[in-house]
Amino acid sequence: MNTMVNVALPKGRLGKKVYDMFERAGYPCPSIKEDNRKLIFENEQAGVRYFWVKPSDVTIYVERGAADIGVAGKDILLEYSPDVYELLDLRLGKCRMAVAAKKDFRENTGRTLRVATKFPNIARNFYERESRDIDIIKLNGSIEIAPILGLSDVIVDIVETGKTLKENELEVIDTIVPISARLIANKANFKFKTEAVEKIRNRLAEQLEVEK
Ligand code: PRP
Repeated sequence: MNTMVNVALPKGRLGKKVYDMFERAGYPCPSIKEDNRKLIFENEQAGVRYFWVKPSDVTIYVERGAADIGVAGKDILLEYSPDVYELLDLRLGKCRMAVAAKKDFRENTGRTLRVATKFPNIARNFYERESRDIDIIKLNGSIEIAPILGLSDVIVDIVETGKTLKENELEVIDTIVPISARLIANKANFKFKTEAVEKIRNRLAEQLEVEK
């Protein structure tokens, strides 16, 4: 019998691209594309069971072993440092983590910098390296509003096209790190499903070469 590999996919636009890549790599499950609200899809022959989870929850499923593998953004991996293996850069969902501020922002190193972000650990690490005192304001979304309303001096956030910043008259003042989607694996499950998981990893890697 085929080993069944449980795969946590991030719901949404990125997830669809990720699924397409798995499909091209030889792990199709066509019913996933039907218009329904099911969250679990299985292809017994191919040995995969997919489930859609919130992007920021993928690492939780994988770290706790409910999923053997999954796809998560490097932003989430850097922010939460889950204890998982990072197997492959899928080169999807490319963007960058950046510091942005209002166009007229002038740095005053004599004052504590107020930083609004969804990613407090990434922000803290970045400013620690810069030896800069900061005050983190943790928000859950629409971060760009913070400097406009004077809630913060800068933001640390994801920039993809730059459209959100532009339309809110903000600009990037520092790039922290490039981000993309990564294939991750549960450490314990990897031990007894090594062959099946490595096969998926290798086929995805081949797929990346073909598409280069
Ligand atoms: C992300 C990010 C920016 C935007 C960047 O927000 O936080 O707001 O995308 O994309 P752009 O450079 O292409 O404009 P998301 O859509 O995840 O919503 P959020 O406000 O909940 O963070």
